[in-house]
Amino acid sequence: MSLRGRTVLITSGPTREFLDPVRFLSNASSGAMGFALAAAARAAGAKVVVVSGPTPLSPPTGVCVVPVTTALEMLRETLKRSSRADAVIGAAAVSDWRVAHAAAHKIKRNGSPRRLTLIANPDIIKEAAAKRRPGQVFVGFALETRRATKSARRKLARKGLDLIVANGPESLASGRIAATLVAKDWTRRLPPGPKARVAKIVVADITRLLHERRA
Ligand code: C5P
Repeated sequence: MSLRGRTVLITSGPTREFLDPVRFLSNASSGAMGFALAAAARAAGAKVVVVSGPTPLSPPTGVCVVPVTTALEMLRETLKRSSRADAVIGAAAVSDWRVAHAAAHKIKRNGSPRRLTLIANPDIIKEAAAKRRPGQVFVGFALETRRATKSARRKLARKGLDLIVANGPESLASGRIAATLVAKDWTRRLPPGPKARVAKIVVADITRLLHERRA
């Protein structure tokens, strides 16, 4: 079983939500997991497109990268491509909020407290999955600090996904990940290991799901 002839779309890395032209809200995601998945999907024969937030890492060879900065840009570039993909993996650490009114010029420091109004960003993988075509596979991540499997299972249903990779905050900006895979009918705890190894297992599961759907 391979992914030859298949297209895999991956969201990866953090997003940045600007307060003004020089300051932003973001998170510690490095984009390593998204790139590890891209490399594994490419090695399995897929055409791979990564919609990537800002990252210092170099993408794996042979994958197409669409660079984005904000969650709204990531949403737009993902939805543009998701209907043509066979599998969509949401590995990005999307900022859950953005600033309601970003200042056009650098905000001056005046020694006083400052209030920010934040508004919710769209859920990119959920929106992509809501437009699913028959046969497509959607995979998400869930970073949890407690009751990981239970909330991953809830998230799987809420977002309309086929598989969730549940993991803890220690995997952020690390080369390793301790993950539990959660699908509709099964749960599998993986031994902690390098992201490349876990990516290979996730890609193998996606390959199996795609073949089951075709059968
Ligand atoms: O709801 P939560 O943030 O825990 O969900 C994580 C999963 O949803 C990841 O796959 C992440 O890429 C995706 N996500 C998204 N858009 C958001 C928030 C999360 O695609 N705004």
